[in-house]
Amino acid sequence: ASTMNKMAERVARQIRDLEDDAEKRRQFLADVAHELRGPVATIRTMAGALADGVADEPDRKERAVGSLLRTSERLLQLVNDLVDLAKLDLKELPIHPRKVDLRELAAAVVESHAAAASQAGITLHGVQAAGAVTALVDPDRFSQVLDNLIDNAVCYAGSGAEVQVTVEAGEKARVTVADTGRGIPPAHLRRVFEPFYRVDAARTGSDGHSGLGLRISLGLVRAMGGELSLTSTEGSGTTAVVTLPRA
Ligand SMILES: Nc1ncnc2c1ncn2[C@@H]1O[C@H](COP(=O)(O)OP(=O)(O)O)[C@@H](O)[C@H]1O
Ligand SMILES: [Mg+2]
Repeated sequence: ASTMNKMAERVARQIRDLEDDAEKRRQFLADVAHELRGPVATIRTMAGALADGVADEPDRKERAVGSLLRTSERLLQLVNDLVDLAKLDLKELPIHPRKVDLRELAAAVVESHAAAASQAGITLHGVQAAGAVTALVDPDRFSQVLDNLIDNAVCYAGSGAEVQVTVEAGEKARVTVADTGRGIPPAHLRRVFEPFYRVDAARTGSDGHSGLGLRISLGLVRAMGGELSLTSTEGSGTTAVVTLPRA
């Protein structure tokens, strides 16, 4: 009877897992539709205004065209992210690993965030590294990961915070993005790798952040044979650690 009970329990668990998967898929589809609707509605409104001649006045026309460009740019970014996510899940995203100097790559990505950091009142330090550290990664894809982690620190840490990127060599190569910002409460931290999950849900989409960054970054790092983890303490900061195969 006990084996029968165990089998029944296992079947019940499998059914629950399948239901959870189906529920996740439904939620994902609803989130995608919701995220796409905002920019598409804006584009239609702006195009309509231009077509009606409502925006004939040069000033208004310029604003409408600017908004059309920005919104379609955001829409394209969102669709590109969704394509990356789908390909990662299908293991069809092309990854071309080669020997890369992580210090050099990290320095370039840090540099590209300098202006945004100073505008946000963030002190973005230069890359810390004992020497050159090489790893076996796809340079474009790893830049994408680092870009997202640094963007997160710059956008969410809050004014006054410091951001330090460190590159280290050990058994694995290790890249750390640490900030001294507001941190992420534990209940949210558990969920930040879920697609579309944002701590401040009210800001969804409006600033080109759809909550796909960490999910895609995790997929990319794993596809390169590495790992990505996030630790955070509310009120004192967040640290992202990427480990990668040495070259
Ligand atoms: N360094 C950080 N400090 C505080 N919150 C963060 C940090 N990094 C990520 N987050 C939170 O995790 C959420 C998910 O991040 P991400 O997947 O990159 O999506 P996005 O940046 O598009 O919102 C962010 O919306 C933010 O609320
Ligand atoms: Mg992000």
